[in-house]
Amino acid sequence: MNLTILPTINPPPYDEYRQVIVDAGIKIVETAGSNPAPHLRMFHDNGIKVLHKCTSVRHAVKAQSLGVDGISIDGFECAGHPGEDDIPGLVLIPAAAAQIELPMIASGGFADGRGLVAALALGADGINMGSRFMCTAESCIHPNVKQAIVAGSEQDTELIFRPLRNTARVASNAVSREVVEILDGGGQFRDVRELVAGVRGRKVFEHGDLDAGIWTVGTVMGLINDIPTVGELVARIIGEAEDLITRKLADTITSIPSEVAV
Ligand SMILES: Cc1cc2nc3c(=O)[nH]c(=O)nc-3n(C[C@H](O)[C@H](O)[C@H](O)COP(=O)(O)O)c2cc1C
Repeated sequence: MNLTILPTINPPPYDEYRQVIVDAGIKIVETAGSNPAPHLRMFHDNGIKVLHKCTSVRHAVKAQSLGVDGISIDGFECAGHPGEDDIPGLVLIPAAAAQIELPMIASGGFADGRGLVAALALGADGINMGSRFMCTAESCIHPNVKQAIVAGSEQDTELIFRPLRNTARVASNAVSREVVEILDGGGQFRDVRELVAGVRGRKVFEHGDLDAGIWTVGTVMGLINDIPTVGELVARIIGEAEDLITRKLADTITSIPSEVAV
């Protein structure tokens, strides 16, 4: 379960959220968005492991020192909030791996076996996928959204809220482009509040009206070309990764002339 802790004017009742998580028997919680410290004790007292999602090495190091059980390191490619440092996974993952001793999951931009092998090579212990799982048979979002992801490319996202330093990566559509234009032109949050309302975004997922509001997806859209079941997807990713490691990469290494390899 994900517990997103965002600075908001009216904070949600996090104490009650935590209690629901405990009562539901959840075993692993991914905290994100802010310092997980206020939540750790209750989760640990109830045998729940806490994975903290970070978009910078410094926040990962801080979370490690606070006593979380694992780190999810989220590159700039990701759907949702990529932070303000703009460091893609190719650099962020190994930079974090150099300082993180806990189990670490790479997040942002993963969709296939190539990504999994790359993440392992960069120092992660596994991958987390958001956008890719949206586009599976089991995902309950409207089929129009899944088709839009399949049709979309890596260029079809917008970064909204940049001037407010609360960047979010969402699908490029009429609404997100208008939000970018208003804020780039000096507008304030109040000027876009109605456009970004969650109730409008829900209409996209529930009714399939792609321009009803903003909806979250990452640049990995450019690597998503089908709508498999979750089982098919995970098996395929593992198969591709095994094939890459045991055959393609092994063949590449052995085909390098020894004088070049030296
Ligand atoms: C539709 C959608 C909703 C998301 N909502 C949240 C959220 O509420 N809290 C959060 O921490 N991350 C959220 N994320 C981000 C994911 O947890 C994950 O970090 C991200 O999707 C990874 O990038 P990827 O989409 O390239 O795999 C969301 C992602 C998607 C696609």
